[in-house]
Amino acid sequence: MQVTVYNCREFDEKELFLRYEKELGMELVLCADAPTLENINLSKGSACVDIITSKITRELMQAFYENGVRYLTTRTIGYDHIDLEAAKEFGIKVGNAPYGPNGVADYTVMLILMSIRKMKRIMERTNIQDYTLAGIQGRELKDLTVGVIGTGRIGRAVIRNLSGFGCRLLAYDLYEQEEVRQYAEYVPLEKLFGEADVITLHTPLTDENFHLINEKSIAEMKEGVVIINTARGALIDSGALISAIESGKIGAAGLDVVENEFGLYYYDHKSDILDNRELAILRGFPNVTVSHHMAFYTDNCVETVVRDSLMSCKLFLEGKENPWEVS
Ligand code: NAI
Repeated sequence: MQVTVYNCREFDEKELFLRYEKELGMELVLCADAPTLENINLSKGSACVDIITSKITRELMQAFYENGVRYLTTRTIGYDHIDLEAAKEFGIKVGNAPYGPNGVADYTVMLILMSIRKMKRIMERTNIQDYTLAGIQGRELKDLTVGVIGTGRIGRAVIRNLSGFGCRLLAYDLYEQEEVRQYAEYVPLEKLFGEADVITLHTPLTDENFHLINEKSIAEMKEGVVIINTARGALIDSGALISAIESGKIGAAGLDVVENEFGLYYYDHKSDILDNRELAILRGFPNVTVSHHMAFYTDNCVETVVRDSLMSCKLFLEGKENPWEVS
């Protein structure tokens, strides 16, 4: 039962892979790099390959097929990096490994609290022993209205988390969920924009909601509104966001994702001139907290994706029903 694992991270995944290799009675070939035509031979003898977000093109798919690979699992929720047409053509099944929504939901609440309590400014001050109070007065969540856009797995977990803080909760989604009504009121988007003190985004990026937060929608919002984005960068027009922060219309932002982050995040760029002005400007504002698309990154999440990706290979190899198979 051999599985080739690509992009195996030494610092957090390797130990888990070795543990589950033993527990599940598998034999793993571990490779630190993404699959390429140069290292594709590591998949010879493996019917299953385990990957992360690197692009699996038709060319790679064909090479996997020729090496005898029949199942591809990705240690991620999304699988749009895999050429599913090509997978179908070569008869290679594809599976994913979803992790729970709590990591991102907790992180979202943290960004909301950091934003309304001006935590970036506070931390910068204590770092230089500036213990003054002027300019760091916060607001209490119980006095605020929070608007949650997207009430899928993560949005719902955010709403459950926030329900303990006593704030008023508004929600918007294309499809409404019964559970949400216990804690929040579904309202039209315009009402949410007009009444929320904090707006948090939890939808996938689609053609319809590209730049959902733009000059026009920002104009409909309250003065000093706080914007939180742990979903996808392009839900917000960065230029419009910057202008609104400069004018004071947007009072603070917490951004785990930004437009055009691909190729920047997860790499060490400290000596580089970055090709993303908006990120540099946003990072420089005292009321904007930026992190590098890592809201998901918890011990629970990493263990879940390592374990479930291998479990799905095992079920595939044993010809059993496989709940992780997506195509
Ligand atoms: P989900 O699929 O469970 O929920 C998405 C919800 O958005 C659904 O209820 C859907 O009806 C709704 N929706 C779609 N288009 C909409 C629109 N135009 N207007 C209003 N609602 C709309 O997804 P999940 O797992 O809750 O993920 C939410 C977002 O979080 C996604 O963008 C995902 O990529 C992102 N994410 C970010 C992570 C991070 O580390 N920062 C990690 C995992 C997910």
